[in-house]
Amino acid sequence: MKKSLQFPFTLLLLLSILTLTLLSFRTAILPAIGSGSLPEPEPVVLNSTLISLASADPIEPDLRREVDALLDGNLPASSRARHRTISTADDHDHSVADLRTRSAIRFRLRRRDYRDYRVFPQFRRLLRDWIRRRRFDPSVVASPELLLPLPPPSPSSRRYDSCAVVGNSGILLSSDRGALIDSHDLVVRLNNARTAGYSRHVGSRTNLSFVNSNILHLCARRPGCFCHPYGDHVPILMYVCQPAHLLDYSVCNASHKAPLLVTDPGFDLLCARIVRYYSIKRFAEATGRPPEQWAKLRDEKAFHYSSGMQAVALAVGACRRVSVFGFGKAAEAKHHYHTNQKAELALHDYEAEYEFYRDLAERPEVIPFLRDSGLKVPPVVFYH
Ligand SMILES: *[C@@H]1O[C@H](CO)[C@@H](O)[C@H](O)[C@H]1NC(C)=O
Ligand SMILES: *[C@@H]1O[C@H](CO)[C@@H](O)[C@H](O)[C@H]1NC(C)=O
Ligand SMILES: *[C@@H]1O[C@H](CO)[C@@H](O)[C@H](O)[C@H]1NC(C)=O
Repeated sequence: MKKSLQFPFTLLLLLSILTLTLLSFRTAILPAIGSGSLPEPEPVVLNSTLISLASADPIEPDLRREVDALLDGNLPASSRARHRTISTADDHDHSVADLRTRSAIRFRLRRRDYRDYRVFPQFRRLLRDWIRRRRFDPSVVASPELLLPLPPPSPSSRRYDSCAVVGNSGILLSSDRGALIDSHDLVVRLNNARTAGYSRHVGSRTNLSFVNSNILHLCARRPGCFCHPYGDHVPILMYVCQPAHLLDYSVCNASHKAPLLVTDPGFDLLCARIVRYYSIKRFAEATGRPPEQWAKLRDEKAFHYSSGMQAVALAVGACRRVSVFGFGKAAEAKHHYHTNQKAELALHDYEAEYEFYRDLAERPEVIPFLRDSGLKVPPVVFYH
């Protein structure tokens, strides 16, 4: 009798001790390791000087002049606007000879195109539309239908579940990542880097070919505008390095089986601002100079983000999960896995872009402009 009374009492005592312990753990210990009861973190305040310097658009006046000239029917001479001559060598397998023969390339293109005068009305329409939409609007990156105007991947969603962006760095050659790359829903490749002969490391599937318009400009010289190292069913998305390349677009679009698309010019401006911001910030931190000096020392009209950067930003807006391969460098690795280009191009600031990628993966809330876009940045993993 005595025993049976004692037992529930002990149990009760034990239970209350346990409850008290749990309660004190919740109030005293959990907050310290970051439970949900903490107040929202303070929003990060970014340096307004850097933001305002990054928001400049130094090529705007030249660009407007050039578009007006094109609309008047004057195709550009190769001497115009220095920054574009440099960007011809952007990110791909161009020889210096290509740079030297630019005016010859243009002349040939012009003569041939006059034979097919039907492309000109389309070219003018395209050009007017492009310059009209060239306004800063960060929300573009949160709108997959503007970023990648293709049929949606599924009836219920505009975003792809998983995307692989495959850069062209030589570090890929020892990576053995081919199968992993091919396992993604959307595989994006850059500037027509070939996969044949490298598939063990770079994979073999391609769903989107992302190029700068210099690539299409070269393709436009080939019979039938051949530009399909991944097959003619793969859509091509290009960003416009110079407005005259929209003429190449008009020439090529007619014969393309797969969609040929141009990046939204508002998205181009977003990418440009983000990379300018990181470059100016790094410059000020590394040199201790006033950030205003960046523009002159860096040759700001020639400065440009890399194709890889825009492809990553695109995937961030169009996918629920992003994996990035073949970005970065190593002392023993080639610059590109598929070319013999020796060095990085001076018009890019790869270090600044790497800093952007680190923030993208670890703390996207500190990325200026992107954080005003309304986009919830998906998980991004960089494979090295
Ligand atoms: C991507 O390409 C592969 C083969 O090349 C294809 O099987 C797959 O359906 C494509 N994915 C999308 C989302 O189009
Ligand atoms: C390119 O060609 C496609 C298919 O013929 C057409 O639907 C599209 O409107 C063209 N693009 C432009 C910008 O003219
Ligand atoms: C902004 O950054 C620049 C360059 O790093 C620095 O000189 C300046 O003091 C910073 N301004 C503020 C308000 O922190």
